[in-house]
Amino acid sequence: MCGIIGVTGAADALDVLLDGLERLEYRGYDSAGVALVNHGDVARWRIADGTHSVASLRSLTGSAPPAQAGLGHTRWATHGQPNEANAHPHLDCGGNLALVHNGIIENHAELAAGLIERGHVLTSVTDSEVLAHLIEELMETTGSLLTSVQQALLVVRGAFAIGVMSETEPELIVAARRISPLIVGRSQGASYLASDIPAILERTRDVVIVEDDQVVELRPGSIIVRDRDGHEVVPRSMHIDWDIEAAQKDGFDDFMTKEISEQPRAIADTLRGRISDEGCIVLDRFELSDERVRSTNKIVMVACGSSFHAALVAKYAFERWTRIPVEVDIASEFRYRDPVLDKQTLVIGVSQSGESVDTLQAVRHGADGGAATMVVTNVVDSTMAREADAVLYTRAGPEISVASTKTVLASIVALQLLGLHLARVRGSLDDAAFAAEIAALGSLEAMVADTISRDEQTRTVANAVMDARDFFFLGRHAGYPTALEGALKLKEISYLHAEGYPGGELKHGPLAVIEPGCVVVALATGSPLKEKMLSNVAEVKSRGATVILVVDDGDEVAAALGDYCIFVPAAPELHAPVKDLVPLQQFAYHLARGRGFNVDRPRNLAKTVTVE
Ligand code: G6P
Repeated sequence: MCGIIGVTGAADALDVLLDGLERLEYRGYDSAGVALVNHGDVARWRIADGTHSVASLRSLTGSAPPAQAGLGHTRWATHGQPNEANAHPHLDCGGNLALVHNGIIENHAELAAGLIERGHVLTSVTDSEVLAHLIEELMETTGSLLTSVQQALLVVRGAFAIGVMSETEPELIVAARRISPLIVGRSQGASYLASDIPAILERTRDVVIVEDDQVVELRPGSIIVRDRDGHEVVPRSMHIDWDIEAAQKDGFDDFMTKEISEQPRAIADTLRGRISDEGCIVLDRFELSDERVRSTNKIVMVACGSSFHAALVAKYAFERWTRIPVEVDIASEFRYRDPVLDKQTLVIGVSQSGESVDTLQAVRHGADGGAATMVVTNVVDSTMAREADAVLYTRAGPEISVASTKTVLASIVALQLLGLHLARVRGSLDDAAFAAEIAALGSLEAMVADTISRDEQTRTVANAVMDARDFFFLGRHAGYPTALEGALKLKEISYLHAEGYPGGELKHGPLAVIEPGCVVVALATGSPLKEKMLSNVAEVKSRGATVILVVDDGDEVAAALGDYCIFVPAAPELHAPVKDLVPLQQFAYHLARGRGFNVDRPRNLAKTVTVE
């Protein structure tokens, strides 16, 4: 989830790059860098200084000679630590070529092995650097930057938006895209490329949206877009009339909606390259031996807030697939209750930030008790990631809205991958069941995209209950933690009273407070307990509650029991929470907006809690 920018033909190329990178600052990043091509030389500056990286880069480049062309990058690490060596731009062996990349090169390990064998020296552990060396190698035979980039992309698997410059053609930038976003534009004799609109908005408002597998030649004031066969195409242009703030939100009203919309991408990126062609699961930093996995007799997941709910959802899948007992504990409780731990225990911290102090201390407590430790987090090299024995990164990109959305879905998907890996190593899932689960994971991206696109039905339902003050969210099985997360989302951003309950617990207390005016949101999607859920619904309805049912497409029988219905695509029960959470996020969002609240910055709450 990096930011890239490039310019050719501007008298103040360095300012264009630094100003553009500053405009991407809202995303958060860990390092930044620029390369300038001047009089046939490539000069590069990089720095890893957290969120100060661009300011530090400005000081570092203070005495750089004027240049008309260059590339810039802000990094949100996915492969390799956030340090200077891994910061972009990357150079080839000869230092003649500079490259910036946003995305994930899935086959980087095999490409790097080949390059090293052929004598290349790689100076970082990023997936991106291999591209610079591949292009360098091809330049030797083709002599053309454009042809070399086109040929290099034929052997690359994964997602990318790249910008490449070479001292042999100092006015040319070659850019290309597959999956990761890329725009280009020109004005007053200069041409620009960027991953995000805010980066170049002050220079041009007329941009071209580069499509998948297109390659673009940028020269001063000229842009040529080619398809994968090298034929020139008429590009898709767009005039941007957003201000910078709207552009940072990609035209959405707020970061929460933007991040809800990014969920299909977050899921796809979290799965990317982690399921091999043979159907095996490939985890990047999984340093627990197969023997250690086989000897595990208990798993404890520790987390706070929404990450706790992600862990609870995963528990159902873990136990079914691995047959290892799983406890999920609130991190702040776990460390103070003298839990039973030993060498056969695996403690898994789930934390989007990797910094929540309670989860961090709970993982440390696990290690002190002799357990193996693992972390599922969205932030590379966060404190938890550094300290745990093993790490699995979600790749949701920076999340700005305080109420978590895309990191929750990415955490569930990452945990499901992990559960399948453990099951495979332990031999607790047969080939057919494993293949079915992998296929179900693979269909989640499209299913979540479909669910997001149905926002209008959720908005209508939210408007219908805008005046209500008491909400109960009911679910059963993996729908229960889904209900907990739905209630938390509503509480966090709309300040309404909301509780999540397992449907079966209704009669043990909550039923006493159900009366006309209460709203019950019940998850009645595909589950072996759906019939029981519908009986619970009848119980609250007969006491006067207004019932909103989340039901599978076509389930008119269930739908008839609700006052209002939200239809979602059907999915296997263990995977259903991933898409069922979407309308609950949207429901909370519409109620909060309807009540006039700032959804991105709810009162009294912080994105990352580093105090007890
Ligand atoms: C805060 C945030 C929540 C988040 C929780 C855990 O309370 O407001 O959105 O779920 O911390 O954060 P973590 O970074 O550990 O997942």
